[in-house]
Amino acid sequence: MISETLKVETSACHDAIENAKRFTRLGSEDFSRDEYVEMLSRFYGFYKPLEEAFRGHPALMEALNYQQRFKLPLLIQDLTDLGVSPQALDAFPVCTDLPPTDSLPQALGCIYVMEGSTHGAQFIAKRLQAQLQLGDQGLSYYRGYGSQTMSQWKAFKEYLDTTVHTAEEPTVVQAATQAFQCLQRWMDSDN
Ligand code: HEM
Repeated sequence: MISETLKVETSACHDAIENAKRFTRLGSEDFSRDEYVEMLSRFYGFYKPLEEAFRGHPALMEALNYQQRFKLPLLIQDLTDLGVSPQALDAFPVCTDLPPTDSLPQALGCIYVMEGSTHGAQFIAKRLQAQLQLGDQGLSYYRGYGSQTMSQWKAFKEYLDTTVHTAEEPTVVQAATQAFQCLQRWMDSDN
């Protein structure tokens, strides 16, 4: 099944991205609130153009009810809760080195990485809340779908496994690999 193939084929990319500069800081004892805001701003600069590109696949958007899964509104909420002004939000740099999304299999490969990260993020949310004493604010991106996270992840994998044709699988895997790599470059870079 393609969902299993993706997990296996991108596991080295997952290991690598955990070592991106900003993500290694995430696990540090002295990871600060300012660093957290900066990290969310980088996610904002990545998701903004990428989610816009997904809109180019209206059938996919509808089938997955994908607008409900968009991360950008959660990031805007968190950044606003943490004191970032609308003017500062607009001024954040936006990534131009994006993974390919022109074809449906490519878009699905990228979405696998985004949806999978929400699944894994549940573990990180708990730690962040305690470490940064965030209370209930600033965690909506990391909390993702909250108690619905597992069911949303399963539904997405089922969609993948029932719609991707065997001949499309290499394209899906390649796009997922590129999504990991583009995000890693973006999370490692300073501009
Ligand atoms: C320090 C950073 C990270 C940690 C500690 C982490 C941790 C995890 C964990 C524990 C899981 C497995 C959850 C489970 O199977 O129940 C997971 C899954 C996943 N994560 Fe991460 N993650 C990190 C960053 C990322 C990033 C930045 C991305 C990409 C945007 C990502 C993409 C994924 C994907 C796609 C899966 C699903 C794998 C699958 O089952 O097919 N992760 N992560």
